[in-house]
Formats: sequence, structure tokens, C-alpha cells
Amino acid sequence: MSEWHDVAGVDDVSDGEVLGVAAGNVPVALFCVGDAFFALHDLCSHGAARLSDGYVDGDCIECPLHQGLVSIRTGKPKSAPITDPVASYPTRIVDGRIEVEIP
Ligand code: FES
Repeated sequence: MSEWHDVAGVDDVSDGEVLGVAAGNVPVALFCVGDAFFALHDLCSHGAARLSDGYVDGDCIECPLHQGLVSIRTGKPKSAPITDPVASYPTRIVDGRIEVEIP
């Protein structure tokens, strides 16, 4: 059964930034693009790298290890060497806090 987790305040991550957080025991990379928040599993699908240590490039995150790109909005791979998607989690705002739903 899925569960919502309070992970950060809406002011903790700004437009164009990424923040590494934990949703229960799941590592999550939390993004703000424009005024919307997105959450991805905080592990590259290509290797042992945290996406929250990478670089935001528009609506993609660039992995810090081999510079593959992943869509912040969907988790889909956008450039080599990444071929598998990264899990994307729903977000919502409750009383100024960002919550992430983990399945
Ligand atoms: S570990 Fe992320 S691109 Fe290789």
C-alpha cells in the first residue's frame, strides 16, 4: 500500500535546484521546476550515483558519474549511457510542506 511522506518545506528547494531527502527509508531526489515539485528515486539507473549530487539542466538532471540525462518530470532516460527509467514519485503540497508518495 502506498504512503505519503513529508520530506521538506516548499522553501527548502528553489526553482532549478535538487535536494536529496528521505521518504521513509527510500532516498528521493526532490526537484523544483517553475513552481512545480517532482520526485525521483535518488539512484541513477546506470550505476551507483545519487542524482541529487548531479546538475539540473532545464527539466533534466545530469548524473554526476557519467553525465547521462534523466527527465525530472518523468524519470525517463534522455541521453546515453542511461537506458532504463528512474522511478518517479507523485508529490503534493500540504500546509506548506512537500509530500512524496512511495508505492
Ligand atoms: S551512473 Fe549515472 S550515468 Fe552512469
